[in-house]
Amino acid sequence: MLQKVKDRVGESIGCCGLLQGKLREYKVPKGVNILYTLGIVTLIAYMVQAVSGYFLLIYYIPHPDHAFKSIQEIMNVVPFGWLLRMMHIVISNLMVVIILLHLVSIFVMLAYKKPKELTWVAGVCLLFITLIFCLSGYLLPWSQRSLWATTIVTNIPTAFPIIGDNIANVLRGGENVSGITLSRFFALHVAFLPPIFLSIVGFHVFLVKQMGLSSPPFNAQGETAAEGYPFYPYFLLKQVFMIMVFFSVVFFMITFMQPFFIQEAANTPADPFKTPVHIKPEWYFLAPYQMFKIIPNKFFGVSLQILLAAVFLLWPFFETKEGKNIFKRPWLFAFFILVLAAWLALTVWGKYS
Ligand code: HEM
Repeated sequence: MLQKVKDRVGESIGCCGLLQGKLREYKVPKGVNILYTLGIVTLIAYMVQAVSGYFLLIYYIPHPDHAFKSIQEIMNVVPFGWLLRMMHIVISNLMVVIILLHLVSIFVMLAYKKPKELTWVAGVCLLFITLIFCLSGYLLPWSQRSLWATTIVTNIPTAFPIIGDNIANVLRGGENVSGITLSRFFALHVAFLPPIFLSIVGFHVFLVKQMGLSSPPFNAQGETAAEGYPFYPYFLLKQVFMIMVFFSVVFFMITFMQPFFIQEAANTPADPFKTPVHIKPEWYFLAPYQMFKIIPNKFFGVSLQILLAAVFLLWPFFETKEGKNIFKRPWLFAFFILVLAAWLALTVWGKYS
């Protein structure tokens, strides 16, 4: 009976052909593992951020006199406001973690190699935009933590001679982080960044669909997606499984780790005249922040970071050597471990220095 109903509904909206045609006939390489699902998990994370963000917008007031109060109202008065806000905070951190895992898995599997160079470039742009989402969103609660962490980050451009102060002034809308900065960051967070992010994700996923997923380097050499398994059910079920793992982690963190995400300084209203003793940027900015701190010449420090970011963005155009198995490329593998260790060391140093 149920099968009859399913067939009848399928026929009337013509989705059977779609399912058959598109999802079963689209092939993925044999041996694709759960690491190949991190991109789609990131996309789902972004969608949850958008939906929870829209609900927060109903009660949030982007004004220095009201922002902090409206957030406290969301946390303590609005039904399930605390859940929506905690989802938004937890997923903003988790999204960066998942993108970094996606990035590392792409690097280890050398899945950026020709013809995937542009997919990589689009991916790095998505990482940078996600970090700007985090930076702009961070100021919106207008707490001591958000005010002073934003002051630290918006001070970095001042290291540039001549134009530095102007860049910082444009970012802040004046000498200091103020109500103007709040409305600029609010506009950035809810109006400018979303369409840019979605168009680059569209381009990124379009490129992946056009060229097919790269086959895992441990597969028999030369085996392509065409010789692989159907997307549905083989790969779709892996994606659904990882999305469920993602949500379990989100709700575990919301239930058992709230104090980790909302410390005391985040529950204190912003006071531009009272500089807290210890203020650090969020964990994902600690490595560049510590690097900036240890290099005495500020201009050199910032220029070096911009150069590293440019090399990172265009990496596939520099690393063109043949060979798809990183374990057969000892120099590249050593370089990868070195960069990862340096990033971890700077982050930990930044946290405890
Ligand atoms: C918001 C951030 C991102 C989203 C939503 C995203 C989404 C996706 C999706 C859906 C795929 C298909 C396979 C999968 O699901 O994993 C994919 C593949 C890919 N992504 Fe991303 N991605 C993001 C960030 C990045 C970053 C930061 C990089 C690299 C720096 C990157 C490079 C790639 C490459 C090279 C592939 C092709 C992999 C292959 O052919 O096997 N992506 N991405």
